Amino acid sequence: MEMKSYTFRIQRNRRNAEGGVESRWQEYKVEASDTTTILSALEEIKGHQDGSLTFRQSCRSAICGSCAMKISGRTRLACKTHVAKVAKNGVVEIAPQANQPVIKDLAIDIGPFFKRVHKITPYLQEGPESTKEVTKSSFDQVNHVTQCIMCGCCYSDCTMAEVSPEFAGPAALAKSFRFVSDPREGHKKSRLAQLAEPHNAWSCVRCAMCVESCPKDVAPMEAIVKLRTRMVAQGLNDGAGARHALAFHEDIQKSGDLNEFTLLQRTLGIFGAVSELGSALHLMKKGKIPSPFPHKADGLQEVRAIYAALEAHPVDVETKAADVAPE
Ligand code: FES
Repeated sequence: MEMKSYTFRIQRNRRNAEGGVESRWQEYKVEASDTTTILSALEEIKGHQDGSLTFRQSCRSAICGSCAMKISGRTRLACKTHVAKVAKNGVVEIAPQANQPVIKDLAIDIGPFFKRVHKITPYLQEGPESTKEVTKSSFDQVNHVTQCIMCGCCYSDCTMAEVSPEFAGPAALAKSFRFVSDPREGHKKSRLAQLAEPHNAWSCVRCAMCVESCPKDVAPMEAIVKLRTRMVAQGLNDGAGARHALAFHEDIQKSGDLNEFTLLQRTLGIFGAVSELGSALHLMKKGKIPSPFPHKADGLQEVRAIYAALEAHPVDVETKAADVAPE
């Protein structure tokens, strides 16, 4: 098998006496074939070049989630990623997961990530909304989110987690969807009410990084969108996120265009909008303040026709599969 030489640029981290983290980059040379994984290369470095390099691993089969790390700019599982596929000009850059406290080198403290998961009560609870019947269709609804291995890749690449440490994060929200959708769960409505609170489902900015980085194709963002749909269907429309989405819907239906001038007030209320006056003045100075006069988009008839078609034939965002008997 043909071997090629690659440069591994690895971020070395260590905690100092003050509790901060000191970082530096260190380079290693590794010979790798087309089938060599990043994890094998790291083991080669640790076993033969530098025993002080610290990273986590366990199953080597993309099941335990412990080898998640930043590899060439994206958080991936080291045991599932081939060196040849991610090297750029023969160089592979490796750093610990982002949005998590670093312990040493590539090992992070996964505790804060699991605290978020524990907050959503990650187990089924019997209650008044429980039903006994579990159909193939209801199983398909939750099946893809149960593939999650809690590796933290989505949380590490989440742009919202980067700016808002209170955000529940894609993994915890996808797991919530699993319980909200399971027919055996007895407290779906109260779960949805909790998820409608700030820093939960409505805080996702739909950057789709979680969909890109998930090594198990869980697509957390899709689960978050379904959670929002269910909240609105339940009348949980009091929060800023729901009001913002409904204001969008109303404007586009009415005029085919957003009325940005009133959007803030309809989203945050009068007091919330007043508290954003500083940003409004900044926009005004830059000549970016939207017109206060309502505006109708060209082709409004087409927009209305789309709405009429959607009302006659609503798009069903739920996963539905025919209920088939086991073979
Ligand atoms: S070592 Fe278990 S997922 Fe990579």
